Amino acid sequence: MQHRARPSPILGLEEATAAAPRSSSSKYALDQEAGWRPFLVLSAITFSTCLAVYFALFPFFTASSSLHSSGFFDLHETHISQCCRGTPHLELWGRVARSGDSHTFNSSVHCCNACKAMCSGDGPCLCNSWVFCSDSEKCGNRFGQCWLKMQEDPLIPDVQDSSSTSMWTSGLIYGKDMGIVALETEHGSVRVKLLPECAPKSVAYVLEMVKNGRCTGSYYYRAESRGSIWDELGNWSNKSTTGPPYGLVQGSLENHCSPFKGIETEACPNIRRGTVGWIGNGPDFFISLANHNEWHPKYTVFAHVLPADIPLVEKLVSLPTTTSVWEGIRVSVLNESVSIRVKRV
Ligand SMILES: *[C@@H]1O[C@H](CO)[C@@H](O)[C@H](O)[C@H]1NC(C)=O
Ligand SMILES: *[C@@H]1O[C@H](CO)[C@@H](O)[C@H](O)[C@H]1NC(C)=O
Ligand SMILES: *[C@@H]1O[C@H](CO)[C@@H](O)[C@H](O)[C@H]1NC(C)=O
Ligand SMILES: *[C@@H]1O[C@H](CO)[C@@H](O)[C@H](O)[C@H]1NC(C)=O
Repeated sequence: MQHRARPSPILGLEEATAAAPRSSSSKYALDQEAGWRPFLVLSAITFSTCLAVYFALFPFFTASSSLHSSGFFDLHETHISQCCRGTPHLELWGRVARSGDSHTFNSSVHCCNACKAMCSGDGPCLCNSWVFCSDSEKCGNRFGQCWLKMQEDPLIPDVQDSSSTSMWTSGLIYGKDMGIVALETEHGSVRVKLLPECAPKSVAYVLEMVKNGRCTGSYYYRAESRGSIWDELGNWSNKSTTGPPYGLVQGSLENHCSPFKGIETEACPNIRRGTVGWIGNGPDFFISLANHNEWHPKYTVFAHVLPADIPLVEKLVSLPTTTSVWEGIRVSVLNESVSIRVKRV
């Protein structure tokens, strides 16, 4: 069974598949196997065989609200700037900018915000990572300590301990001009800013891909214009429909060196022009060219395209496509999938 050529990110049933308990040695095997399959054509063919199965499930926007109450995201956390998350059981090393000995908080969010405050605006960024002692039992009298640190290379954070017994929770903060990677294709390099404060686990996976920059396996397979529905600012200008077309590119983001294990739902802000998010639990992802306020905030958002590079995304949606129908939705499938490498800029 192929769940690979994911249809539109607006389909609720997408999550029905993806958010099912990840029991899965079988899902893992599927993802791995699929990662080696380079061409969309094949996905499209196999996909069409599954249409009948999916079709019965198809409604817009319905399937997932219950699935998402599994505790991974906060419905109210709808603005990127409000995110301040970290990864439990992770201890980052790095030069100490502020010792935690006499710097304590009662939650990791406060610690994260303390770091953020030292890395905002136009001044120099004096804190790009934070480490919080979050396990009240194990931390003992260190409980609440908030260490503020500087990673020498914020794209390769210095991990001291990521075992499940670690009592620390850590996070990265990417200030101005930091945390930017390129999705490189033969049609140009789209630079995206990663959002570790919203989606730390997703970003950790992307950073792993950056480290293995020469590996292949990622590609775009769908590219859809804004049509006459979304204007050049991404606003909804033609209120007769919300698509198709949806104004997006869609692909698979994984490579052969970093097998994809599925990423739990993280923060789900509203989808804006330039938003980069997973479809379900990945590795299928999309970049939106429109402000899709009508999409419920249910897609993990892990990056956004630098405004200067939006025209390159518009260029991708002008490549030759063929109309197909997935789950009853008209989609534009790229005649030739476009391979992506994730690189430093
Ligand atoms: C946690 O600390 C903040 C200020 O740092 C305070 O406003 C809040 O009431 C505290 N919460 C608890 C549960 O102690
Ligand atoms: C609005 O969108 C519909 C469907 O794409 C299209 O048929 C119609 O011509 C559009 N109207 C305008 C004013 O662009
Ligand atoms: C269009 O979108 C931009 C940002 O995407 C927003 O600032 C602006 O207010 C919108 N304009 C209208 C008319 O909705
Ligand atoms: C794209 O593929 C479709 C269907 O195979 C074909 O009709 C069309 O000519 C192709 N477009 C280009 C520019 O190759």
